Amino acid sequence: MTTKIIGTGSFLPENIVTNEKLTTIVETSDEWISSRTGIKERRIVCRETTSGMASEAAKRAIEDAKIDPAEIDLIIMATFTPDRSMPCGACDVQKEIGAAKATAFDLNAACSGFLFALNTAHAYISAGLCRTALVMGAETLSKVLDWTDRGTCVLFGDGAGAAVVQASDTGIISMVTGADGTKGDVLTCDGRRVINPLTAGLDDVESGADEAYIKMNGQEVFKFAVKKVPESIEELLEKSRTAIEDVKYFILHQANKRIIHSVAKRLKVSEEKFPMNLDSCGNTSAASIPILLDEMNRKGLLNPGDKIVMSGFGGGLTWGAVILEW
Ligand code: ACO
Repeated sequence: MTTKIIGTGSFLPENIVTNEKLTTIVETSDEWISSRTGIKERRIVCRETTSGMASEAAKRAIEDAKIDPAEIDLIIMATFTPDRSMPCGACDVQKEIGAAKATAFDLNAACSGFLFALNTAHAYISAGLCRTALVMGAETLSKVLDWTDRGTCVLFGDGAGAAVVQASDTGIISMVTGADGTKGDVLTCDGRRVINPLTAGLDDVESGADEAYIKMNGQEVFKFAVKKVPESIEELLEKSRTAIEDVKYFILHQANKRIIHSVAKRLKVSEEKFPMNLDSCGNTSAASIPILLDEMNRKGLLNPGDKIVMSGFGGGLTWGAVILEW
């Protein structure tokens, strides 16, 4: 018994923000952004919310899976930009889609989040704790961007993606996930500072910050990604005894086209096997893999029996990869 993706869905905010538009906000250019990242435009929320986008993506995935929401036993939302600290976004989605019997929680593994959520759902299903799960990645990154920092604000976008998964004879073949907290400082977004009457006057309270923005050492993240992603894919292929030529697509976290090209080169695989939607979505963190997966599914690019690798990497630092049969 394993876990199969039986439906996908995604949602992007209406508001399209082009590189040209960003030149009116920070000192940058379309040439700088597109040549270094592959991003031409991204969607940025005006009125949409993280849970609202996730709920729309979930509804589309449920429709695609042709199931009744009442069948869902488990809902996991991967995000580091929920609307509220409590209740969690997965509970908002549960209410919105009417999945009354599901248990629900959020999970944070930054850009690797969707794969960690998929792995968790797979563990629940394999242990016989549930049969059908809804797994989502949803982010409103625009609210944690420093819009005066041209080094980060040009990279990200908002959106949500979802997949319905179910116990099945075929599907996930193997997964790997990992974390290295010792390198966490290269990509951070602070939480709230501890401020209360008991800490007044203390100048060594270390947790949190007054302003919680994404801070990144881009070159260190780049080095980590181009080393760890091929390594984890090779580990996955070895574990699953799969020849690399038998993989139809490598669906990578959409951070940067140069990272994706470098991974393809290191694996000696044609770039054509690495689909991308960075040009129109930017980096949507935990949402990027399920949004791209849904795009491919709706275009009819995925056929039963196809072997697909999905691979994510991000803050933590964390990484994860899965190989599955569609
Ligand atoms: N527009 C114009 N100039 C810029 C911009 C911008 N948006 N941002 C930075 N610059 C300037 C810098 O100020 C610097 O100028 P200087 O030489 O006068 O000081 C110059 O460009 C080079 O800056 P670097 O930071 O060295 O640029 P680099 O070539 O490393 O590219 C980038 C930055 C694209 C972020 C690169 O490091 C990268 O691809 N890193 C991977 C990280 C990544 O993709 N992160 C995504 C989020 S993390 C994740 O999803 C896991």
